[in-house]
Amino acid sequence: MAKLYINESKKRGHINPEIYGHFAEHLGRCIYEGLYVGEKSEVPNENGIRKDVVEALKEMQVPVLRWPGGCFADEYHWKDGIGPKESRKKMVNTHWGGVTEDNSFGTHEYFELCKQLGCKTYVNGNLGSGSIQEMSEWVEYMTFDGISPMADLRKANGHEEAWKLDYFGVGNENWGCGGNMTPEYYANEYRRYQTYVRQYHDDAPVKKICCGANSADYEWTEKVLKTCFAFPHNNSGFMDGLSLHYYTVPGEEWSHKGSATDFSEKEWYKTLYKANRIEDLIKRHGTIMDTFDPEKKIGMMIDEWGCWFDVEPGTNPGFLYQQNTMRDALVAGLSLNIFNKHCDRVKMACIAQMVNVLQSVVLTEGVKMLLTPTYYVFHMYKHHQDGELLESFLENNGLAGEEKEYQVPVLSESVSEGKDGKITVTLSNLSLTQEEQVEISFSELKPGTVEAVILKGKMNDFNSFDEPEKVKEEVFADYKISERGLNLTVPACSVISLRISR
Ligand code: AHR
Repeated sequence: MAKLYINESKKRGHINPEIYGHFAEHLGRCIYEGLYVGEKSEVPNENGIRKDVVEALKEMQVPVLRWPGGCFADEYHWKDGIGPKESRKKMVNTHWGGVTEDNSFGTHEYFELCKQLGCKTYVNGNLGSGSIQEMSEWVEYMTFDGISPMADLRKANGHEEAWKLDYFGVGNENWGCGGNMTPEYYANEYRRYQTYVRQYHDDAPVKKICCGANSADYEWTEKVLKTCFAFPHNNSGFMDGLSLHYYTVPGEEWSHKGSATDFSEKEWYKTLYKANRIEDLIKRHGTIMDTFDPEKKIGMMIDEWGCWFDVEPGTNPGFLYQQNTMRDALVAGLSLNIFNKHCDRVKMACIAQMVNVLQSVVLTEGVKMLLTPTYYVFHMYKHHQDGELLESFLENNGLAGEEKEYQVPVLSESVSEGKDGKITVTLSNLSLTQEEQVEISFSELKPGTVEAVILKGKMNDFNSFDEPEKVKEEVFADYKISERGLNLTVPACSVISLRISR
């Protein structure tokens, strides 16, 4: 039997809601079809934005949405996406399938989407192929509400008031698709570009995000911070966040990443093993960040993460459309527990991507929409948002998986206390075969009522348009309240969320 000890009197940090963030790029059917269908569409919409998708996302609680990319961001010229739609420039989306981008979804539509979702805004600027003037003018267009050329242009385009821009990314993956830069070169460019991201509201400054590393590129973190943070006489910070991108790819070659639905038990464990690596990356990049920023003023923004598999057979390879099984759910459950546990440094994480691309929470097909297993995990974990992480410790947690190389801990957990005083415990069982008895003990608390839900299934169960509710969140009742905790049975291949009142 595993034991989960919870010390409810020890708060270990604040769980920024943005850890449960999302990412939507002009890629495949994410923006167009997935989120935005246009006002004349047969799909019910409000100002061109799908009502069904927004309703589902609101229920799941989206804290922040990153846009417009991704690689797309560094070739996006924002002025192409404003003004009357019929005269907006059409361009080729060279990164993603070479399709025509008609720019009908631009700045105004993005802020409308965030308004409908009730989420914070995170716009990623173009450092790779855009000018400083262009970036600076975009920020002016979005956030300045006095008299200026860009504020006047916004008003002429129908939006009198400035928007609230919460985060601004100065380039994306500039070590790769964003310009193939060296860390030294990017760092100098970053210093220059970020200077002109002007702050027009002292009470609501735009938080600047610097492009961080890919996976285990520690040299990037070190060199970028050396130039951008610890500059002599100015360590007050050119940045509020440093990004980190990490994708879970089971295959060894980019051309054979593995199928999203047709995989073996061995691939199950290999995928979870690789997903679990994010903890090591957080620790090691975090240690470098600590040397410059011991007070942890700069957030680690894991603004792209998730599973990346081969596209669904017969779909455009440039559209990155993949199905989503219980394996994705366990990757999400594990990753979100890890982010919670490192909430002292991790201030944002955006799963890639929101709809119809990579590890999505929603898939659409014409007027139809379905919720993926990953959606339910975000839904079940939403009570952690804005909570206080509580000290917790798992004893007697075994290892799952036959191949030594890819073994993973059977259980993953995190615990938080919400503003309403309720305690949320999220537990995942990564084993495919072993159900686990778990004894939860608080240091003093005697649980009152418990609300519990579970997501379970076979490893490659997924929701399809023929069977959209094969995997879904259900009420969980296999627990007993004890004097100072709970006893429960956690089925193999499952994610559980418990809400415990005092
Ligand atoms: O999410 C898909 C792509 O992955 C993004 O555009 C890019 O930033 C990353 O390489």
